[in-house]
Amino acid sequence: MTSEHTEKLHSTARALVAPPRGILAADESPGTMSQRLEKVGVEPTPEARRDYREMLLTTPGLSESVSGIILADETFNQELSDGRTVPQACADAGVLPGIKVDTGAKPLAFAPGETITEGLDGLRERMQDYASRGAAFAKWRAALKLDASLPTDRAIHVNAHALARYAALCQEAGVVPIVEPEVLMDGDHALERCEEVTSGVLEKVFAELAAQGVDPAGIVLKPNMVVAGLGFSDQPEASEVAAATVRVLTQRVPESVPGIAFLSGGQAAEVATRHLKAIAAESTPWGITFSFGRALVDGALRAWAGDPDKWKDGQTALDDRVRANSEVLKR
Ligand code: G3H
Repeated sequence: MTSEHTEKLHSTARALVAPPRGILAADESPGTMSQRLEKVGVEPTPEARRDYREMLLTTPGLSESVSGIILADETFNQELSDGRTVPQACADAGVLPGIKVDTGAKPLAFAPGETITEGLDGLRERMQDYASRGAAFAKWRAALKLDASLPTDRAIHVNAHALARYAALCQEAGVVPIVEPEVLMDGDHALERCEEVTSGVLEKVFAELAAQGVDPAGIVLKPNMVVAGLGFSDQPEASEVAAATVRVLTQRVPESVPGIAFLSGGQAAEVATRHLKAIAAESTPWGITFSFGRALVDGALRAWAGDPDKWKDGQTALDDRVRANSEVLKR
């Protein structure tokens, strides 16, 4: 890579995680987005999915709290109602456009309950195409189920390997990879079990990134917070979540990584913000920010619910959540 290419990756990665801005994850696949629209009574057409994303993207003042927005391929290729392309609308809004490039988590052979995230076939060509149309960054999510015996070493290994191959292809195309190894929150495990598994997963991910020649200064890590399972009866305090999260990250994440943008993973919106605040209050070598999906958009989707007269209500709900999260990053 030329030094110009490398410097562009580094500066984009730094821009994405510079507090007090975070990343809006609005990249639900058409299938997932359709289910969410149906839940609020909206017929799930491509136009309805476009309208919903347009409502989010055109929220006034979005760029004060949001550095980038992750989009699904369908959205990236759509035009807004005024004819602008979505990457153009992102540029106009002052946020960087990102693209989810994995094609989803599929059952892993001979591994009941576990998945492998797919999407590497043809990825070099797709990355070049997205880059030529303005994508500044990309996302790939590995999902690891946690219980008493999962994830298996094999599921961790194959997912870490795929993440690293994806990240290398992104950097080759001049696009910053968001590397998202998510240890799922489902279950009734204690925080300590999540800490143990997250530590093992991150160790493997960074070993694979190094093996594939990925420059750690040109990525953004998007991990889960270290939390107890959603079904665990005695939920830890935010201070315990923050201490465990920072302990694991300090152990596993090179200091050259510019920033860590947490996913929300199904936490209630206010809980995710409380945890983010406690983590951001700790001293860390990397930038700390959010890359939430549900914890930012759930309220906006409910408030809008497909009604053109409620467009502003949806935007207000989004604005409230992005500002609440941005606020806790200010020191
Ligand atoms: O891949 C998952 C999203 O990018 C983050 O979504 O915050 O709802 O877990 P979430």
